[in-house]
Amino acid sequence: MVATAFGIDIGGSGVKGAPVDLETGELTTDRVRIPTPQPSTPKAVAKTVAKLLSEFGDDIKGLPIGITVPCIVINGVTQFAANLDKKWINCPAADVMASAVGGPVDILNDADAAGIAEMYYGAAKGHSGLVIMTTLGTGIGSAILYNGVLVPNSELGHIEIDGFDAEKRAAASIRTNEDLSWAAYIKRVQRYYETLEFLFSPDLFVVGGGISRDADKFLPFLKLRAPIVPAELRNQAGIVGAAWHAYHVWQPLNA
Ligand code: BGC
Repeated sequence: MVATAFGIDIGGSGVKGAPVDLETGELTTDRVRIPTPQPSTPKAVAKTVAKLLSEFGDDIKGLPIGITVPCIVINGVTQFAANLDKKWINCPAADVMASAVGGPVDILNDADAAGIAEMYYGAAKGHSGLVIMTTLGTGIGSAILYNGVLVPNSELGHIEIDGFDAEKRAAASIRTNEDLSWAAYIKRVQRYYETLEFLFSPDLFVVGGGISRDADKFLPFLKLRAPIVPAELRNQAGIVGAAWHAYHVWQPLNA
């Protein structure tokens, strides 16, 4: 039987989901995207997740369900949310989702999911040693993987550099909001990655988020010891990583 699980990626603007073939890391059908409700409270988002799942009907019955959120997640409880409604702070998110969808779900950080997807199916496939995945989007997300094993909830977007929260200087949204030239943005991104490199000495950096489409405009100009490469799974990484995690790592409580 083909190993399949359902992945859902919750972002600030959209909730996206699809079943994933875990042999190949490919979606088995087109993904469904529903705009994130505003305000994006856990209850409102849980309803959206239930609606999204219902669009797949019986086809996905019994599949493990993995869900990403842009938050620190500890045992199904979301602890910190920089760019989502503050009701997610200290929220039993796995329970809220489980009651909305009528069964257990696995919840993990969005960048951790993207890192897993790149590790098993994308730009970091086959890499041993230390891989640091970063997503440059509204904020900066991170995933640390050592010899293929995830160290969850790393939050390297919030390290302080030169007196600033790093994501407030180097996230992709800042480039747009402050109308920065690529040259100006490259300086900030250089400072960010050289700091990570000094602290962690990774063997590989992978850069995801929408801006990875423009990787040729900034990645080749960075001066780092470790190779730095664009993510390959683009906007499917969250879905794929969530499905992988639900299938391979998480066991539903009371299962
Ligand atoms: C959050 C992280 C999240 C990242 C990307 C950050 O602001 O703190 O949890 O992974 O944004 O969404």
